Amino acid sequence: MNTLCLPRNLQFLYEESLARLEAKALGCERWERDEDNPWQVRTHVNGNSTDMLRRAAYTATLDGELAVYGELIRPKYQGGVFNRTRSENQYLTHWFYPYRGKFHPQMVRALFNIVGVQPGHTVCEPYVGSGTGALEASLLGINCIAVDISPLCVLLTRVKTRSIEALAEIRERVQDLLARETLDPYDRSFTEHPNVVVADFLEIARLITLSDVSRRKRDGRSWLRKNLQGMLESVEAQAVALDRFRIHRGDVSATLGDARNLRAAGIAEATIDGIVTSPPYSIALDYVKNDEHALEALEVDTSALRGEMTGVRGRGAKAKLALYGEDMQQMFREVARVLRPGAKAAFVIGDATVDGREHTSTREMGDWAVRAGLEREREIPKIVFGLYSTMRDEKILVFRKPD
Ligand SMILES: C[S@@+](CC[C@H](N)C(=O)[O-])C[C@H]1O[C@@H](n2cnc3c(N)ncnc32)[C@H](O)[C@@H]1O
Repeated sequence: MNTLCLPRNLQFLYEESLARLEAKALGCERWERDEDNPWQVRTHVNGNSTDMLRRAAYTATLDGELAVYGELIRPKYQGGVFNRTRSENQYLTHWFYPYRGKFHPQMVRALFNIVGVQPGHTVCEPYVGSGTGALEASLLGINCIAVDISPLCVLLTRVKTRSIEALAEIRERVQDLLARETLDPYDRSFTEHPNVVVADFLEIARLITLSDVSRRKRDGRSWLRKNLQGMLESVEAQAVALDRFRIHRGDVSATLGDARNLRAAGIAEATIDGIVTSPPYSIALDYVKNDEHALEALEVDTSALRGEMTGVRGRGAKAKLALYGEDMQQMFREVARVLRPGAKAAFVIGDATVDGREHTSTREMGDWAVRAGLEREREIPKIVFGLYSTMRDEKILVFRKPD
């Protein structure tokens, strides 16, 4: 038997379920909780304990050995070197841009393990949002085809996952900018650079700063400096992490596209080894309005985007809900098309409340997925507990494409 210690940040029952399912997927048999120590589990590692230590999201230690993930997420104030923020969800480049409705990276990592994707496999994230799933896949050595309808999300995903490819040039450019006497987030010219990876990095520093100014009333000039410095620090930390833990980073391709038409994003039939995603929660959140500042700064035509975006398109709640249903059904047909036979897809979705009425989208979602040709694998209830929400119910629905 082996002794597994759960991480101290595990708070909720659903997280323990994920920890157990993840351990099982990584080859553990039995799961016996210690009566006196809620974090300690007796298990039997049938597979490879190195694999557990390198890949698991919800294992802090195994037989006293530290897991890689615990090292990655430990904040600086607790002696960590890969997380400059105070939140365990914002390590490495995860903190770039205050995107509302981000996944918890720890949960995404566990879900990749639970759906059984391996290093070298290719996953698809059809609603990549701020890029959480793409970054986690890449850190697990899994290739990711990331799609989103919002140009901001595509840019953000690229910057979080690909800045490391131009680290030396980014370092040089940031040092050069910090040496300037004046630096203004409203003067876009500082983002110009012949290498698009560097230019994208600088653009995101500008957008983070503009959000700091508008949402937090911060001084743009001084926060642009802080953001450039902080972002550089995080990309440097990513390079150190890859080297120290011998992570062979998975490729990420971030594409502007539509989850309802993954063929247009270049994804052929039966080529995807797994999906972990979170579509818009019914019509509850207006993603265009949320990111209006950044979208306008990127000169995006927001009314055209509004006409395409799931959960946002349509006039009035009734029409919006009908279109939302059509979009989800089309997306499930696409998911069923692109998955390899036997591959699994996990969806994190909520029961959204619109105009005070509960729309149980999770039940309908399950039916739509089955109608599209997927099989139900499991359903894990979870809750959202955070800054922007009072406690709210969500579900993780896992489906499998039949062999
Ligand atoms: C719940 S958020 C995803 C958040 C993401 N999991 C993260 O960690 O940041 C849903 C995303 O779906 C995107 N979206 C909406 N309609 C879409 C469509 N038809 N195709 C692709 N993406 C779409 C939105 O732009 C938004 O980024």
